[in-house]
Amino acid sequence: MTAIKGLEGIVATTSSISSIIDGILTYRGINIDDLAENALFEEVAYLLWYGKLPTKTELDGLRKQLDEFAAIPAEVIEAIKLYPKHTNSMAALRTAISSLALYDEEAGDMSPEANQRKAIRLQAQLPAVIAAFARIREGKEPVAPQAGGSVASNFLYMLTGEAPDSVAVKALDQALVLHADHELNASTFAARVTVATLSDIYSGVVAAIGALKGPLHGGANEAVMVMLEEIGSPANVEAYINGKLTNKEKIMGFGHRVYKDGDPRAKHLQKMSRELGERIGNMDLYNMSVKIESLVTGQKGLKPNVDFYSASVYTTLKIPRDLFTPIFAISRVSGWTAHILEQYENNRLIRPRAEYTGPASAKYVPIDQR
Ligand code: ACO
Repeated sequence: MTAIKGLEGIVATTSSISSIIDGILTYRGINIDDLAENALFEEVAYLLWYGKLPTKTELDGLRKQLDEFAAIPAEVIEAIKLYPKHTNSMAALRTAISSLALYDEEAGDMSPEANQRKAIRLQAQLPAVIAAFARIREGKEPVAPQAGGSVASNFLYMLTGEAPDSVAVKALDQALVLHADHELNASTFAARVTVATLSDIYSGVVAAIGALKGPLHGGANEAVMVMLEEIGSPANVEAYINGKLTNKEKIMGFGHRVYKDGDPRAKHLQKMSRELGERIGNMDLYNMSVKIESLVTGQKGLKPNVDFYSASVYTTLKIPRDLFTPIFAISRVSGWTAHILEQYENNRLIRPRAEYTGPASAKYVPIDQR
């Protein structure tokens, strides 16, 4: 038995949800470019869960369910108020989503209908939990979502307590479409491994949040912003990046396990970053990002991934840096839950093997002889 490090190139399951073939990403066969330009996030979530685009009536029905399910139990809000002041936002999300299961009467119901409802409930509650956490740590009361609002508009509304402008809503909605699913990425794999033991959907989503948190996966968008802040201005880019590359340090937001010729989602975020920068009359973040890209691609041949331009997009939308990865989760919970439902439909325990590299034929030594 020879281990394949990082399972690179291993095909671990079948799935009809999203595909990456020859560098082209599709959700249920629809090219991500088409969806990014034309679809709303709720349509995409429906597509991932049900395998087809919704009719107007079906979309209205989903929106109604999202409204109905968005309320967070008072006990979960009270618990968030007890989190230590400097709690990491992804740790807070992981804990809060786990505690939501305690108050869901359907948590242990494994019927497909109950699991579908729980998927929609998680989609509705996850943004509300993040917004509540962000407000509570600033000493403010959580704001309830507005009925009839989209996931994007309601998240911005719950965060600030003010009606968001339409450009910000459109940009966030497009970012949510772009992040919704991505074949067997690390967090989705973690979710599938978890529920393949026939554990519940909350356990799968909590495992996925834990996997997304790391900087090699979803945590990279926050790490990109840390880098942009460290660089400070376009004039400092060259020295900073050259220094990192000379020291063989990774540049966050670049490279990908599957895409070797560029991430098809990055160009949409780059365009958004430029347009939002132009709108506020400050192109510094965009200009720094473009300069970084030119250096890293020029010297290492590495292209930006989905996380790279999201950092400047979210900052221009005035979203605090440590909410970038939670926003990734607001979108990806649609994909995680679609994969969890697919796993339940055709389940087999996921249990690979390890190549053993420890000592051979060792003997037990009694404790008084060690
Ligand atoms: N900066 C500099 N060098 C890099 C980078 C980078 N961002 N990414 C890869 N490389 C180099 C590695 O150092 C390695 O070089 P070597 O062969 O000389 O040792 C080579 O490219 C291969 O890289 P690996 O890390 O082995 O590639 P892997 O497929 O394991 O990792 C990953 C992919 C984790 C995305 C990697 O490119 C990386 O760490 N990128 C930065 C973090 C990041 O942006 N993560 C977000 C990914 S997208 C997402 O999850 C939503």
